[in-house]
Amino acid sequence: MKEFTHVCHYTLYPFDELSDADRALVLAAQEATQRSYAPYSHFHVGAAARLDDGTVVTGSNQENAAFPSGLCAERTTLFYAGAQYPDRAVDALAIAAADANGLTPTPTPPCGACRQVMLETETRSRRPMRILLYGTQGVYVFESVSQILPLTFDGSFLKE
Ligand code: THU
Repeated sequence: MKEFTHVCHYTLYPFDELSDADRALVLAAQEATQRSYAPYSHFHVGAAARLDDGTVVTGSNQENAAFPSGLCAERTTLFYAGAQYPDRAVDALAIAAADANGLTPTPTPPCGACRQVMLETETRSRRPMRILLYGTQGVYVFESVSQILPLTFDGSFLKE
């Protein structure tokens, strides 16, 4: 019998200590929470992706009365980026969330399905995608999707 441990490495930044580009990306994610459609959960999530040419695209969670038909902010954003800019890598993705009390103090961890889509985005571009999870108390920064999704299933398993 053997045991294995996965270590997840990330950094907690005070918002003010982020680079100018990262602060702008986080602000874009915060702003995107205001375009969320969340009449059921009242949990408004915004995401902002910075492409390799500096373009920023944003998205938000879009809910539906048939609950599983809705989509999280992260996937809305990454699918939009893929649909509009198929040849561009995503260098960084920022996520923020707001509830009835405003922007959340602690960062919102992406759901498993969104992590899987992030992995595909990163694998597709063959370069690390940084993930910035915003909370009013600080920002968690992951240098690669591999830091938030261990034991990844990707396209390499489907090759002959
Ligand atoms: N949600 C996101 O958009 N991203 C996350 O990382 C977590 C959850 C959305 C889905 C749903 O609209 C609402 O938040 C409550 O789960």
